[in-house]
Amino acid sequence: MKRDPWPSAHGPVLCVVGARPNFMKMAPILRALAAHDPALPALLVHTGQHYDADMNDRLFVDLRLPVPDINLEVGSGTHAVQTAEVMRRFEPVLDAHSPSCVLVVGDVNSTLACTLVAVKKGVPVAHVEAGLRSFDRAMPEEINRVLTDQIADLLYTTERVALDNLAREGVDASRAQFVGNVMIDSLLANRTLAVPPEASLRRSGVDPSVFDIAQGYGVVTLHRPSNVDDEAALGPLLALLRDVSERLPLIFALHPRTRANIERFGLSEHVSGKRVAVLPPQGYLEMLGLMAGATLVLTDSGGMQEETTALGIPCLTVRENTERPITIEQGTNTLVGRDRGAIVRAVDEILAGKGKRGRVPELWDGRAAERIAAHLAAWLARRHAPATT
Ligand code: UD1
Repeated sequence: MKRDPWPSAHGPVLCVVGARPNFMKMAPILRALAAHDPALPALLVHTGQHYDADMNDRLFVDLRLPVPDINLEVGSGTHAVQTAEVMRRFEPVLDAHSPSCVLVVGDVNSTLACTLVAVKKGVPVAHVEAGLRSFDRAMPEEINRVLTDQIADLLYTTERVALDNLAREGVDASRAQFVGNVMIDSLLANRTLAVPPEASLRRSGVDPSVFDIAQGYGVVTLHRPSNVDDEAALGPLLALLRDVSERLPLIFALHPRTRANIERFGLSEHVSGKRVAVLPPQGYLEMLGLMAGATLVLTDSGGMQEETTALGIPCLTVRENTERPITIEQGTNTLVGRDRGAIVRAVDEILAGKGKRGRVPELWDGRAAERIAAHLAAWLARRHAPATT
């Protein structure tokens, strides 16, 4: 039996995306809000933090995301400028649409900026992927996570340890809900649509037969400021990729930040070589195909640590810490930092067939967005219910 429609007086859920890692999280949430009975009306707000074809447009197509209802077009800038611009431009959107709540995902500048504006105007905020902590306050994302979780009303978590982190920061348990991982919802929904690695290479002008991936290959992505903004960190990392490529050919999908820094530091020749294929940022379905077929992934991305765990592909994370410890404890992830010896050893172990196989964590089952929609609908209905005396 179909229930009554969602009362229009409650206002829409304003769903915010800003940067690339937000898109795969929001796609299943929008679908789940629409599929809920009754459907929860939603508006998609894009802050415009990521804007170019490689970082934005292709992912929208791949993930079947609707064209945003509102685009704030903030573009690039320093953290202060970007955060401030999102805040300034988001406030009139709240005034115009009187939303029932704002839903933010992840840990990018747009996540914190929109949360701050909404909470100060008395609009409730739901944060998806709450409670993750690297305990490294030098990471801009860590600041965004800690502050967003302090002030958001509803905190949806991907793993149980996030609940402990929130409790330690004084967050009342009633605000937090363990729902699973929406990023894995996207992965499972798109697994069969993944683009074969050969096609992605060809599309970027690399002949797959010259670059023989049939023998196995590694996928590389690097973009964290701590790895790529400093020549003393980036130079040795690129040299190390050369060493690894002698053991295993590498496909390096180059983030715009990393590309710009390689040019600025004059390191371009470090990334050329017969056994390193340099590709532009990949679409979602291309990256899924590249990861699924890889022998290993070498990355400093947050999301790819989780995706490789779900795919059962060994992941070497070029960081000293991770906010996603479950990928280490249960999944296929290993922290290797920038230590050349540790990285080469780990690669050799994987090539010898001793890589981590891992298992898929609890509630990474493709239904996290559904659980969020159900919980959010019930919470909003309670909030709007007339008070009983
Ligand atoms: C942002 C997020 C990070 C996320 C990453 C994924 C924050 C604090 N950081 O970092 O958490 O993992 O996105 O990519 O929010 N650029 C383009 N085209 C674009 C977007 C950016 O060329 O579409 C350029 C910018 O001009 C800038 C560089 O890429 O020079 C970095 O972009 P920026 O959004 O500042 O941060 P990210 O490093 O991408």
